[in-house]
Parts: sequence; structure tokens; C-alpha cells
Amino acid sequence: MKRILLFILPILIIIAVAFTIFGIVQVRYEEEKLMDDLKRKARAVAESVELSARYSLINNDLKSAKRLVESFQKRERMQGCVIYDKEGLILAITERISDWGQKEKTYIKEILNTQSARGAIEIFGDYSVYSYTLPVLDDENNILGVVEVIYDTSYLFTTLADLWRRISTTLIILISLIAITAVLIQRQIFILPVRRLTQWFSHFQRGEIDESHPIKEKGELGKLASEVEQVALSLRVARRTISDEASVRLQKEEVWTESKLRDLVRAKLGDNALFVVSNREPYMHVLDESTGVTKCIRPASGVVTAIHPVLCACGGTWIAHGSGNADKKFVNSKDKLGVPPKDNRYILKRAWLTKEEEDGYYYGFANEGLWPLCHNTHTRPIFRESDWQMYKKVNQKFADTLLEELPAKPPFIFIQDYHFTLLAKMIKEKRPDATIALFWHIPWPNPENFSICPYRQEILDGMLGCDLIGFHVQNHCNNFLDTANRLLESRVDTEKFSIIRFDKETFVRAFPISVDGHISEGSFKVEPIREIEKLKKEYDLKDKIVGLGVDRIDYTKGIIERVLAVDRFLEKYPEYKKKFVFIQLAAPSRTHIKRYHDLIGEIDELVEKKNWKYLDGDWKPIIYLKRHFSQDEIEPYYMLADLCIVSSLHDGMNLVAKEYVAAKKDLSGSLILSQFTGAARELTDAIQINPYSIEEFADSIKLALEMPSEEKEKRMENMRKIISENNVYRWAGNIITELTALKKV
Ligand code: G6P
Repeated sequence: MKRILLFILPILIIIAVAFTIFGIVQVRYEEEKLMDDLKRKARAVAESVELSARYSLINNDLKSAKRLVESFQKRERMQGCVIYDKEGLILAITERISDWGQKEKTYIKEILNTQSARGAIEIFGDYSVYSYTLPVLDDENNILGVVEVIYDTSYLFTTLADLWRRISTTLIILISLIAITAVLIQRQIFILPVRRLTQWFSHFQRGEIDESHPIKEKGELGKLASEVEQVALSLRVARRTISDEASVRLQKEEVWTESKLRDLVRAKLGDNALFVVSNREPYMHVLDESTGVTKCIRPASGVVTAIHPVLCACGGTWIAHGSGNADKKFVNSKDKLGVPPKDNRYILKRAWLTKEEEDGYYYGFANEGLWPLCHNTHTRPIFRESDWQMYKKVNQKFADTLLEELPAKPPFIFIQDYHFTLLAKMIKEKRPDATIALFWHIPWPNPENFSICPYRQEILDGMLGCDLIGFHVQNHCNNFLDTANRLLESRVDTEKFSIIRFDKETFVRAFPISVDGHISEGSFKVEPIREIEKLKKEYDLKDKIVGLGVDRIDYTKGIIERVLAVDRFLEKYPEYKKKFVFIQLAAPSRTHIKRYHDLIGEIDELVEKKNWKYLDGDWKPIIYLKRHFSQDEIEPYYMLADLCIVSSLHDGMNLVAKEYVAAKKDLSGSLILSQFTGAARELTDAIQINPYSIEEFADSIKLALEMPSEEKEKRMENMRKIISENNVYRWAGNIITELTALKKV
């Protein structure tokens, strides 16, 4: 609109100025013409009156003079006539203008003296009139008197005003016509071709059409169109070549790497776009209000840890809730940004939620309802109808956001976690051609436990909109099949491991998630050795045995049990006093939920109590660091720690256990791992514990510390082998292979 205005405004101004000048000239001309006409008429009338007046003046016939002036009484436009005697006194005057007599008229004396006629505009009351005055002479040219005719000039101004009105109306009509024509022309010759070109470009580069570009005209637009065509063509050719090369390379490579996954995705998905949806975003922009500094942080989340390297490898679009307080400042007009920030590998699209939506959907239904429902930790789930309504609304909001982004070609959609159980069904309703997988990052309970959820049927129905549902371990898959079998009218195929409901088949598979397995091989921005030395100095760790815990502060993580176990360990084995230090890195999480809020207080109090109990000089057994730590900051802690404790009361997988093993390139260190984590199924060389049994837990710390180093190394080596073979690239590769095999794209 602004551009169109810039284009037509100068034209309109020029036309308006030209028209106004023309109008002024036209009105002047008309005014002169009317005036001339008036003068001519006034003179003719005065001359015709002169003869009769002369008779009246010579004969001093007052009656005929009066009759003469009264004959003008009814004439239109002419106001009247006055006859003066040779002294300049009024002899007769038309009644209509009898007031005229009061007016001072010095010019009458002048006319009597000079004996010459006069025409002029005179002011009479509120009006202006035209007066024509003629001397009346006898045959010897002696002055007898004066005749004056008076004309109304108001019709003259009315005529001129009418003329102005006509000119202005014509000008307005002209300007409007020109503006409309300019907009139509601009649309026809510029906007429509550019719009056609943009549409063509987006379809062509996605491979949805093969036609050549739609701009047939030559000239600058034509040149631009053929340049655009070249770029689109190169993009498509490059993509196809990459996809072919990828298939060839894939057959050669053995170990799963970032590039192998990239090749797999290109070979399997080809031109079909990949979309990931999760609640938690991989990058959050957070403004620290006290310092005014905005930081870009990677949130503590298993989903983020696992999915980020996958998208870095194969690109795509990740849609997530923009929950950082400065997130809005860092997106473009479509709420998107390229990430990682300094090396854009994929697109993050942020979806915005209101406070009420976040409360009901995230804090309420997802984290007070589904989270405790799926974790066996004896925390009672809370189901509020209002939270459920908000959860449905937000699932629909994400569905709409995603649908807007989807290209015409069948897309691949990879949904993450319990926040979006309804999404797959909502998307399939509009885009049945989409291939959808859901990965459930937390445990799935048995049917009895799940059946307490008042919305169980809608949740299961929503999930069965997927083509594939993945869980970490087989046990969770079995629970899910049992749940669907018992709570829904569906057919479970135990051979194929699928559920069929209303003719739609959903496959269920176990895909144990992992880390990238190369985190200690130079992918860090910080120099770990220097950082380790810094930490040792800062916390006085020289010659100390260091235990480590890294968690979000969540009641499922068994942090309380861990502190109790450290306490029991020192009670039972006091020789470790002043020799052993346990560092707990703890990221506050979901703090608006009372259970989480209370837990923070409980842990603070317990740590304080136990540290007080053992405090000896500068030594205290627990270093509790309660804040968000970035991946780069955590790495030196992993490398430094002699043992890492993962004591979850229930956990889908637990990637901290795998990260610790991946970081131990020198094969040092031991892992104490809860038997209630998914990771315990794979990492059988970890020292496995029941975190509820504090005695056993305390003893396992002693066992880990006193294990012969050869055995420690052997165990670590075995675990590292498992992780490097079953890394996150293999995990994603398996899901994509399974999905494409099911859908036969
Ligand atoms: C678990 C869930 C993730 C979640 C993470 C962190 O790992 O499976 O989906 O992102 O916890 O929780 P938060 O609520 O902070 O995202």
C-alpha cells in the first residue's frame, strides 16, 4: 500500500495543482465576461431611460419621472433606477431601492460637472451592486440631470461559485479515477506477476510442479523470473543428487554418525519435509531482569538432549512453545529463527501460549496429571476438568500452527511426549497423507494405573492417530498394547505389534533413546582440562573422591534418597569423611507446581541438615549447586567425577547416565544406576540399585569406590561400547527406517 501511495501520490499532486490553476484562470475569464455583459446591459438600459428622463426633466414632469422609475420595480436582476435633477437631488427613485437615497454619492456631483458617464461597483447595505450613471443633456448640451441604473451583482457570484463547484467535482472524480486506474495497473503489471512467481517458486523448489516459470513478458521482471528459475532448479537438482549420493554412502557406513543419519534421512525422506513438535524448545532466550542481560540457554530436558543432535544432522522445522521471557525478540515475522544461533542447522518455530493456557495445559494437565500418572512414585495425579479443556485447546493450537507450515507433499511429523497426545488425530483429520510418529519419553503405566485417568479414551484415541508410537523399552510397549486392548474397542495384533481401530493401524515399537556418544571428542566450546582444574580449586576437591548427581529438581529423580544414601554411607563408613564429596547439580523445574516448590524446600533443608551434621573445618560432604547448567558447563563435572549417581524412582530412560559414560573417555569412574530407569536395561555394567533401599544404596557407593580399577575400566568400556553403537543417530535412524517401511513412501 505504501509503495502504491509513493507511486501515485506525486501524480495526483501534479494533477491537482494543474487543475487548480486552470480553475482560477477559467473563473477569472468567466468573471470578466459576466462583468462586461452587466456593464453593457446597464449602459443600454441607462441610454434607453435617458430620453424619457430628458422629457420629464425639461417639462419638470414629476409624475412621468416616477412612472418611469417604477417601471423597473419588477425587473429581475435590475434593482432599480434613480433620476436626479441638475442639483444632484433625487427626483424619482424605484421604491425597491428607496434606501439608496440615504447613501453618500459624491460621484453625482462629479458627473454633473464633467458631464461624462460612469460605471462602478458600489456597496449597498450588505450587498454589492453595479451602478451605471449617465448625464442627461438638452439640445444645447446643458446639463438637465442624471440617470442612474442599479444592477444586482449577487447572481454573478452565484454563477462563479457554481463554476468552482463544478471544477472541484470534476477534479475529485478525475483524481479518484486516476488513483483506481493506477492501483489496478500496478496490480496487473507488478503485484500479480510477482505473486504468481512467488507461488511458482515455492511449489517448484519443493518439487510439487515441474512447469517453467509463469512470467512470459520480457523486460526486467522477465529477467528476474529466469534468475529465480535457475536458483530453484539448482536447489532441486542439488537435493536430488544429495539424496542419491546419500543412499550410496549409507550402504557403506557401519557406525551411526551424524552424517550417516543425514544420509539416511535424505535417502528415505527425499524431498518430504520433516517436522518435530515438542513442548520444550531447544533454545530459550531468557532476560535476567537484575542485570538486563539476555542469555540463550539450552533447557534441561531429555527431549532437547536427544532431538537437538538429530535435527542438527538432518535439518527440518521444530515447533515448540516459546517459553523464554525474551523469546519474542528473537523471531522473525513468522515466529521463526535459525538454530543453533551461530551455526543455523534447522528452523525453530515458536508457538505462543497465554498464561492461562500454560497453567492449564502444561502445569496442570501435563505435569500434575499425566506426569505422576505415568511415573510410579506414589505421587497422586490431579485431574481438573478445566486443565483438560486447556490441554485440548493447546493441542489444537499446535495442530493449527503445524498445519499452516505443512507443504503440499506428504510430510513427516515427529511428535514428542505426553504434552501432545491429541495432536496426531487432529492433524490426520486435515492431512491424512502425513506420516506421524510419536515418541513417549516417559514410562507408560499398566492398564489399571492408566484407567484412573478420566480422559483415558480420548487420550488413547488421539495417540492412535499416529502411524508409529515409540517407547524406550519393551515393557512400556507391552503396557500400552494392554491398555489399548482393555480400554478401547480395538484389535491388537501381537504378531505385528500394532493396534487397529476404525481401520487405522498404529505400530508400537521400542526405541531406546540415547546421546550422540561423542561428547568427549572435541565437540565442546570450553577446554575441559582447564575447567576441571578451575572446579577443583573452587570447591577444594584436590585429593577428594568426587561423586556427582545431575538432575532437574523432580520428585521422580530420587534426590532425597540420594542425600540419605550419602549420609548413610558416611555413617557406615566414617573413614570416607573428609575424603568424599558429593556434588549435586540441580536445575529448578516446574516451580509453579506445589509439589515441585515443596520439594525444593525439602532438599534445601535436608542438604543443610546433613552438611551441618558432618561439617569439619572446610569440609562438608554435599556441594549443592541449584541453578541451570549448560551442557558445556556440565561436561567438566562428568570428567572430574569418580562416580555418578542416577537414583530415579522411575524414569523412561535417563540420559544423564548415558552422558556420564560417554564423557568418560579415559574409562575412569563408576555409574550407580537405579534399576527403575530405562537405561538400566542397556547399561547392565552399571552398579544397579533400588533407590528406596537406603542401606543397599549406601553400600553401592562403597562398592563403586572400592572396585578394582581394572574392573571399573572393563565395565566402563562395555558401557561405552553400548552407547557408541546405540547412539541417538541410530535411535533416530531406526525410527525413520521403521516409519518409512510402514508407510512405503
Ligand atoms: C522430561 C520430559 C520432557 C521434558 C523434560 C523437562 O524429560 O520427558 O518432555 O522436556 O522432562 O521438563 P520440562 O517440563 O522442564 O520441559
